[in-house]
Amino acid sequence: MASKKSDRFLKLVGKHNEKKKEEKFSGTFEEYLRVLEGDTSITKLAHKRLYDSIAENGITKLSQKEERCNKLFNGEGLKTYDYFQDKFFGMERSLAKIMRFLRSASLKGEESRQVLLLLGPVGAGKSALMEHIKKSLENTDPMYHLGGCPVHEEPLHLVPRSLRDEFEKLYGIKVEGDLCPVCRFRLKDEYENEYLKFPVVQSSFSVRGRRGVGVVPPMDANSQDVTVLIGSEDISKLDLYSEDDPRVLSLNGAFNVGNRGIVEFVEVFKNEIEFLHTMITATQEKSVPSPGKGPMIYFDGVILAHCNEAEWNKFKSENTNEAILDRIVRVNVPYCLEVSEETKIYDKMLNLSDFDGHIAPHTLEVAAMFAVLSRLHPSNKVDALTKMKLYDGQDVIERGSVKKVDINDLRDETRDEGMTGISTRFIMKAIDSALSDSEKNMVTPISIRDSLIKQVKDQIVAEGVRTRCLFVWDQPLHDEYWNIVEKEVTKAFVSAYDEQAESLFNNYLDHAEAYVNMTTVKDRVTNEEINPDEGFLLSIEEQIGITGTSKENFRVDITAFMFSKLRRGEVVDWKSYAPLKEAIESKLTSSVKQISRIVTKSKSRDKKQQGKYNEMVQTLIDEYGYNEDSAEEVIKFASNNLWRDS
Ligand SMILES: Nc1ncnc2c1ncn2[C@@H]1O[C@H](COP(=O)(O)OP(=O)(O)O)[C@@H](O)[C@H]1O
Ligand SMILES: [Mg+2]
Repeated sequence: MASKKSDRFLKLVGKHNEKKKEEKFSGTFEEYLRVLEGDTSITKLAHKRLYDSIAENGITKLSQKEERCNKLFNGEGLKTYDYFQDKFFGMERSLAKIMRFLRSASLKGEESRQVLLLLGPVGAGKSALMEHIKKSLENTDPMYHLGGCPVHEEPLHLVPRSLRDEFEKLYGIKVEGDLCPVCRFRLKDEYENEYLKFPVVQSSFSVRGRRGVGVVPPMDANSQDVTVLIGSEDISKLDLYSEDDPRVLSLNGAFNVGNRGIVEFVEVFKNEIEFLHTMITATQEKSVPSPGKGPMIYFDGVILAHCNEAEWNKFKSENTNEAILDRIVRVNVPYCLEVSEETKIYDKMLNLSDFDGHIAPHTLEVAAMFAVLSRLHPSNKVDALTKMKLYDGQDVIERGSVKKVDINDLRDETRDEGMTGISTRFIMKAIDSALSDSEKNMVTPISIRDSLIKQVKDQIVAEGVRTRCLFVWDQPLHDEYWNIVEKEVTKAFVSAYDEQAESLFNNYLDHAEAYVNMTTVKDRVTNEEINPDEGFLLSIEEQIGITGTSKENFRVDITAFMFSKLRRGEVVDWKSYAPLKEAIESKLTSSVKQISRIVTKSKSRDKKQQGKYNEMVQTLIDEYGYNEDSAEEVIKFASNNLWRDS
């Protein structure tokens, strides 16, 4: 059996190798010219190649119809790139800026001579984004390059200067750059300058194979060595050849291997400034020094760098760094500020891990609210919780109507929001530790709160941040948290929650409409024409604080709203009008308060109550995604904290 598996696998390996071989071109420069005739796009420069490789996956304009787009992006028709969908969340603006940079650079704008710097706090996804960008090259068609060239150079470098104008006229391709010293030597030494015979091959991009992707890790002053960037002279060969003989060169620096693709600087400003001069030369002159005394070597690649704000500020403050600053296009990569998108990040990370515990409903949402609140700057216009909801595209109800705040005004109030606060990793750690503390292999909104608070106390030393994080639980999140749990438990009490809500909604509409039009309502049971039930209307309205004369407006507004929706052929249900939805939920919650108090008091439960209790647990499991343990935990929490007999 075992050997059969191996047989099958080895067969696969064989096929795979065959395929790899047959797909790749291998020939002379003369043959390459013929290939080129059929497809000039194979000579793309690095920025264009990278841009195309990402854009090819599809570009979607955030649809005007989509609510999130209208609310959060002002319906500005922001472009999103499918390549990042389902992997990066709440980062549309940063991604759009990165792609704008690549696009301009691919059109040979000034950006093609700039470094793209991603600036953001730890755990904002910079490294993950870099990985993903680099990976897109691995999925593109292999590049054509001179056989044996250490920098995989473009074969067209063989076209002599004197023929380049003619070449451009014929092929429509402008040739940039000259042969690297190694190929130049070989051209003379091995091919006697018959460049048409020079071999051309095809190689795919590979991060691990260091083909077309060079990575520069941060280095301290002592270990910093420019050979990491531009390669070195091979000392063992210095015995054989003279010092200026290209055969002594080991062109294996990041700029050598990253030629045609990407050179990435990780935590770029941890490096000494001298170290970064090569980076500047590479952008300014599109070439890098060769090790030893040789001439400069042409370089065509996208230079990407990332770092956090503290390092950036330190670097920026030194005015000797101006030359470099001038060469940098900065794109902020802040933390996600949308609760629902933040939740997706946790989902993604949990799916990637071996995590197998039970996550009760709302757990990740509660954690995300905490994270976002820790990141938001205070506003003069709205309180923190309101801001959080608005940023998430939610409707905020105030005195019976949807609060009208222009989200752009809120954004304009502050700068660099999302560059501080709790990181995604911090949250993941809290989820992990809540899980390992749990005897039941689960995390609930209740245990995640405890775990987050504990972790803040244990791990955050900076007094300001610590106080702020604890304050979040104390203040903005306090009531909201209670509300969420309360609403959940209510759902368990009210059998057929949605139906009941729907029926309250229909009744309310019937009566409010009759009130507004000064007509009567046909009683659904007796068919009698009755006057609008003022008591009933008020009992709903008071849930959201509508009293006195404001009820008139509320009733008129909602009748008009529903009428216009119906006229447009849209479906209306109890969730259609946010203020009414909130009132109905609250009404349902208060209606069960009495009975819930009795049922959840475990000590005094009689048989009938026990039956009801079991039913509730079952509802939470069947309809809302709890398991038995988590259902019991939220019910217990609700009865201990929310419905204490006063
Ligand atoms: N907005 C986001 N969308 C998707 N994943 C994210 C986002 N922000 C952070 N992450 C995830 O968080 C983790 C930490 O991010 P990382 O790339 O190491 O951050 P950085 O390099 O900025 O410190 C990664 O697994 C990353 O995928
Ligand atoms: Mg990183």
